Amino acid sequence: MLINDDCLYTMRKFEDEIIDMVYLDPPFFTQKRQSLKNRDGFEYNFNDTWDSMDSYLLYLKTRIVEIKRILKKTGSIFLHCDKSASHYLRVLLDEVFGVTNFRGEIIWIYKRWSNSHNGLMNSHQTILYYSKSKKFTFNKLYTKYSPATNIDQILQDRVRNSDGKVIYKKDRDGNIVFTNEKRGVPLSDVWDIPFLNPKARERVGYPTQKPIILLERLIEISTNENDIVLDPFCGSGTTLVAADILNRKYIGIDISEEAVQLTKLRLKNPVKTESNLLNSGVKAYDKKNDIEKQILSNFSCHTVQRNKGIDAFLSRKHNNMLIPIRIQKEQETLSEAVEMLNRAAVKKGCNLKILIKTNSKDDNVNIPPDIIIMDSYQLTIDGILFK
Ligand SMILES: C[S@@+](CC[C@H](N)C(=O)[O-])C[C@H]1O[C@@H](n2cnc3c(N)ncnc32)[C@H](O)[C@@H]1O
Repeated sequence: MLINDDCLYTMRKFEDEIIDMVYLDPPFFTQKRQSLKNRDGFEYNFNDTWDSMDSYLLYLKTRIVEIKRILKKTGSIFLHCDKSASHYLRVLLDEVFGVTNFRGEIIWIYKRWSNSHNGLMNSHQTILYYSKSKKFTFNKLYTKYSPATNIDQILQDRVRNSDGKVIYKKDRDGNIVFTNEKRGVPLSDVWDIPFLNPKARERVGYPTQKPIILLERLIEISTNENDIVLDPFCGSGTTLVAADILNRKYIGIDISEEAVQLTKLRLKNPVKTESNLLNSGVKAYDKKNDIEKQILSNFSCHTVQRNKGIDAFLSRKHNNMLIPIRIQKEQETLSEAVEMLNRAAVKKGCNLKILIKTNSKDDNVNIPPDIIIMDSYQLTIDGILFK
């Protein structure tokens, strides 16, 4: 179900205790008009400006009281917020749901690369999690062990000896006894989920659009198949798409007609971007081999991982311009390396470039004057000793 209205009026029409889980991502009290253009240049926006914190809290409280009424006894609420008002909202939820029904504060962390103005760069948002009662639906999820975990220790059963000391359990024949299969580390309350990058297929250009993976996790821990998920501030419909993927029923409400139209479109063709960062970890992005790393360690530079023609930029600019560095690849002739570097440098608007020569293929090529060629240490020594 998808409804275009103020969620307060819509929820007032619902019967008591019919919803299993509510996720709400309301305006955050940023005191800005949030707007963003999609790929076709169409601008979506919504207002996040308020007379005062009190009026903002009152606005949310009336809606949260309604949410509590329509939640089943086993249901849960997840309120997405950020540093602008999270401290007030936690107190508000304590008031409405009761301190004893506070289930946790999920910290969603993500990497950002913008320059922070004076102060710490904000890289997290908060999701406040409450249940309606003590008896709530909760499915345990597990994450992988960290490389630092001593897996041997976890997989071997332990007992206390007569001195009360914990020791590895052994059977009568002195063989190690293994524990039941371990599923990993129970999910913590800090979630490292990448922000949708500007080119992500999933991105529809709605301001403050959240990643589907984030919503999938919330839905998975708090509901079962065919349960009903409600998002009263559904925006571009991320929650509904995640619910659909996980075979949950969903209700979305948004006051903006454009948001509802967009959600309809998304639901017709749900697209989810797989996150390499999540699937393979940060290491998967490190594309440099040991030799390249060694060469670059001789420079004061920033390594570049996702550019075919450039391996690094010098840390210092020259005439206010970035200086790209390319390391000649093993199978590459010098002219091929020059061409790759030139092409990439043009796109970045760089003039002067550095090329590190690592082999002697194609020695007679004409080197353009704006490329500084340097031999790697290995090539220099090979030239002196083994030519
Ligand atoms: C932060 S956005 C939600 C973004 C959404 N989670 C997503 O991933 O696209 C907040 C949404 O609340 C909607 N909204 C604001 N006031 C509302 C109200 N009283 N009832 C329903 N929707 C409202 C806005 O139109 C906006 O789409």
